[in-house]
Formats: sequence, structure tokens, C-alpha cells
Amino acid sequence: MSKRISIHGQWSSRLMFILAATGAAIGLGNIWKFPYLAGENGGGAFVLVYLLCLALIGIPIMMAEVLIGRRGRQSPVNTLHSLSVEAGASGSWRLVGWAGMLAGLVILSYYSVIAGWTLAYLMRMLSGTFVRVTAEGSGSIFAQLVTDPERLLAWHTIFMVMTIKVVSRGVTNGLEKAAKILMPMLFFLVLVLVAYATRNGDFAQAFNYLFYTDFSKLTPTGVLTAMGHAFFTLSLGMGAMLVYGSYLPSGVSIAQTSILVGLLDTLVALLGGLATFSIVFANGLAAGEGPGLIFQTLPIAFGQMPGGMFFGALFFLLLVFAAWTSAIVLIEPLVAWLIENREMERIRAAIWTGMVAWLLGIVTILSFSHWSFSFHFGGVLKRHGLFDVLDIVTSSIILPLGGLCMALFAGWVMARDSVVDELGGLAGVGFKLWYFIIRFITPAAMLLIFLRAIGVL
Ligand code: PFF
Repeated sequence: MSKRISIHGQWSSRLMFILAATGAAIGLGNIWKFPYLAGENGGGAFVLVYLLCLALIGIPIMMAEVLIGRRGRQSPVNTLHSLSVEAGASGSWRLVGWAGMLAGLVILSYYSVIAGWTLAYLMRMLSGTFVRVTAEGSGSIFAQLVTDPERLLAWHTIFMVMTIKVVSRGVTNGLEKAAKILMPMLFFLVLVLVAYATRNGDFAQAFNYLFYTDFSKLTPTGVLTAMGHAFFTLSLGMGAMLVYGSYLPSGVSIAQTSILVGLLDTLVALLGGLATFSIVFANGLAAGEGPGLIFQTLPIAFGQMPGGMFFGALFFLLLVFAAWTSAIVLIEPLVAWLIENREMERIRAAIWTGMVAWLLGIVTILSFSHWSFSFHFGGVLKRHGLFDVLDIVTSSIILPLGGLCMALFAGWVMARDSVVDELGGLAGVGFKLWYFIIRFITPAAMLLIFLRAIGVL
């Protein structure tokens, strides 16, 4: 097992890694994106494919990423370079690290804009804007916000500053501290919300919607979207888990912790989805709204319920926390690389990286107003131009391809002994099963999904 320590520091305990990695995984993807993707792609069948992808592709790849990171103890680019050279393979594997770092910047650019919406909604909830709001009123408040580039830019800027602030403080004082404080609050808020939704919403219909599988509603691109979302939600395929793995003390079981992180992430997505759809259905609202789903529908429900403003504010606060602990890991790989290769101070590296993502975010901001256009993606009407393009290219293509490369790297490039060494906690049959999945099942399943989505199969 790798005994070296990363120059950036390391997690102070196993629990801290679990909190930080869960924080990276649980984000807007769970509470904002999962419900609207499920809504757009017909519910139950999409959810089933998503769960299968998490179990057969996502969690095994998470283990691969974390073990590669711990073995290399550097930023994704340098880790992949040094481990491939050590294994006698081509140093070009580092390109996977580069693709991941760029994908991270692009994802952060739009992630921060959506996180800005959640900040804006938190303020509106607190100021009572939604008290007894009608469906039309809520729709127009949302439309006003997303078509007001200056306001979006202001919120996007605030969120980016929050992200840079945490990353610039480093592993122990920044990333770990944020996870330690925010994650317990987040779990608590999820539970409060679910309790609220079971009392005030239509839980039975939400359950039926998410778990009743009607395969006639699922298209091949829907399957690709489900797989892409499995990568997005677990923060895989771009080196995020790799860099978090590089801060993992030796001796902590990678298998156990990865499975736990995967389960917690899934639990929060399902609970978040159940809570959201309970409220949506109880109020006769539409499930297929797209990215505006929770922003347009939930305030109507909160506006009518006793204590709704308070719980509405809690809901958006939860989203802000979730987004924050995920956003930091989107730039950490690049920040780590700048420190290692350009000898930059962490604070400067964080500011530069954040500024590039901030600038790119303007594309997303404008795609809701001046640059908006629509197109179809596998039968789903995408209405927000470049934002949807960036999201589809990163989530459905780059993250899965990056993840596939990580699987191939751990399964075929690294020496079996090094892999066994890092997965020390995983004994006999467990290891053999994982190794078989990562070498054969995961690549084959992914290939099938890709070929089917582009119409070859
Ligand atoms: N997993 C995050 C979410 O579900 O919101 C999004 C994300 C964060 C994706 C970090 C990728 C990443 F590296």
C-alpha cells in the first residue's frame, strides 16, 4: 500500500474522507438534476437503469479512481503519467487527466450559475415572495430571474467566490472543514424535508412514479442519460475522486468507503426525488418541466402550506450546501496541478481557476436569454441552447469516457499487484469479482450503451 503522502496534505481520518467524498458526490445532481431527468425520461424505467449503472459501473469505477489516486498521490495528470510510466505503458494516459480537468472547469461554469439560482431562491423564500403564489406567478418569477443576465451574473459571482474561498484554504482547513460542517446539516435537512413531504405531499404517487417501470417510455438516449447521470452524481470520470483518493491515508479500506459513499449518494437522490415529486403531484404540477422543475413547482407548494416559507428556505439552503461541497472538487484537480507543475501558491491557483470557470459561466447565463435555442436530444426537447449542449457533452460523453479510461487503467494498465495492494481491505472473492467487473463488465456495458445511443446497435 502506498505509504507516501500528497504534498497537498491528507484527510485526518476515514470519516473525514467519507464526509468529503459524500460531499463531492451529493450536490445539485441529486436534488435538482435527478428529479428533472427522471421526469423528462419517463420515471421508473429511467430510475432502474440509473440504479443498475450505479451498481455495475459507478461504484466499481469509484473504487478504481480512488485507488489510482492513492497510488499516485498527485494531481490526476501527474498521477496518471507517473503510474503509466511505472507500469511501462504510454505516458499519454495523462491526457485523460487533462480532459477531466477541462471538463471540471466546464461543469463548474454552469454548476455555479445554477447554484446562483438556489441562492436567489433562498433569499426570495426568506423575504416571503412566494406566499400564496399561483402557478403562473411562480413561472413568471422563474422566467424573470433566468432572463435577467445581470442578476444571474451577480449570484454566479457570489457562488464562485464561496468556492474559491474554500479551495484556497487547502485540504484540512478548506475542503475538510467545509465537509465537516456542511454535511451533517445537509443530512439533517434532507430528513426534515422528507418528513415534511410525507405529511403534506402525495408520497404514494411519487413512489409509484419513481419505481413503476414502464420500459416503453425509455429511449436509447434515455439510457445514455441515465448512465451519464450515474457518473455525474458520483463525481466520476474527471479526476475528482482520484484527487480525493490521493489525500486518503493508507490503511483505509477503499472498497468499504466507496460503497458507503455510493449508497449515501443514492439514498439522498431517491429521498430528494420522492420529496420533490410528492409535493409536485399533491399540487397537480407537471413532472416534465426540465431544469426549472424544482424552481417553478416547489415554491407554489411551499407558498400554500403552513410553515411553507420556512421549509422552503431550508430546502434551498440545503441545495446551496450540497452545491458548495461539490463545486470545490470540480477545480481541485486543476488547482493541485498548478501547485505541482507551476509552483503556484494555492490561493493564486484557486483564484485563476475560479476566474476561468466564472468567465465560461457567462455562456450558460446567456443561454437562458439572448443565446437561447432549442433542439431535440433523443426525444426530449432541450430548451436552453448552449447550457444543454455543455451539460450533454460533459455528463453524457466526457465523464463516461473518462470513467471508462479509469476502469481500463486500473484493470489493464496497472500491475495487478499494485491494485491488490491498494485494495488491501477487499479479500479473495470480493476482489476477484470487482476485478472482473472493472476489466470486462463495465467496459462492455458502456460500449453497448454508447453504440445503442448512436444507433449502431
Ligand atoms: N456530483 C455532483 C452532483 O451530483 O451535483 C456534481 C459533480 C461534482 C460532478 C464534481 C463531477 C464532479 F467532479
